[in-house]
Amino acid sequence: MTQSDTKIRAATLADIEAVIQITKDNEHFWTPQVDGAEALERILERPSNLFLVYDDGEILGFILGSWDGARAFIHKISVRPDIRQKSIGTQLVSEAIVFFKNIGAPTVAVAAADGTREEEQDSTEFWKKVGFEPIPARLMIYFDVQGDENEN
Ligand SMILES: CC(C)(COP(=O)(O)OP(=O)(O)OC[C@H]1O[C@@H](n2cnc3c(N)ncnc32)[C@H](O)[C@@H]1OP(=O)(O)O)[C@@H](O)C(=O)NCCC(=O)NCCS
Repeated sequence: MTQSDTKIRAATLADIEAVIQITKDNEHFWTPQVDGAEALERILERPSNLFLVYDDGEILGFILGSWDGARAFIHKISVRPDIRQKSIGTQLVSEAIVFFKNIGAPTVAVAAADGTREEEQDSTEFWKKVGFEPIPARLMIYFDVQGDENEN
């Protein structure tokens, strides 16, 4: 499958509002610094970043990732809550893999953080269904890169 066969395409600035709305509907909007419009605009500026949308006349889902020249990572996937289980997530992952294949990546990993909705605490089964295997790893984060927590 190629991008031209699907409703999946590269995101543009015009998609950002819809992408943020889906993130909020999925209760995955953490902070504007990471999930807000300016952050998404910066993602769009770098060609080695993955930012695809599923466009069926309206934006129904999106996927974000990056490639550093050695490793490819999917950072986030989100499908509109009212249109789940219709293979949109599977298609987004499939197109992401095509993107990373074309860029030369040998593997693609995902940081599969738990969802905030009670019924979506663990997306592991979804990732297994789209061909990913669990590896022994822990997702950890350093929150204070900007030093905000030390400000008086
Ligand atoms: C995870 C998500 C992207 C899946 O999108 P989707 O369009 O519903 O997925 P698909 O229809 O392609 O599902 C493919 C398979 O995975 C299963 N699946 C989907 N989401 C699942 C979940 N959260 N837990 C377990 N299985 C799941 C589906 O039942 C389907 O199984 P089947 O092939 O046996 O029918 C979507 O549920 C979502 O946006 N969730 C909120 C955000 C999130 O948790 N993202 C992942 C962490 S970054």
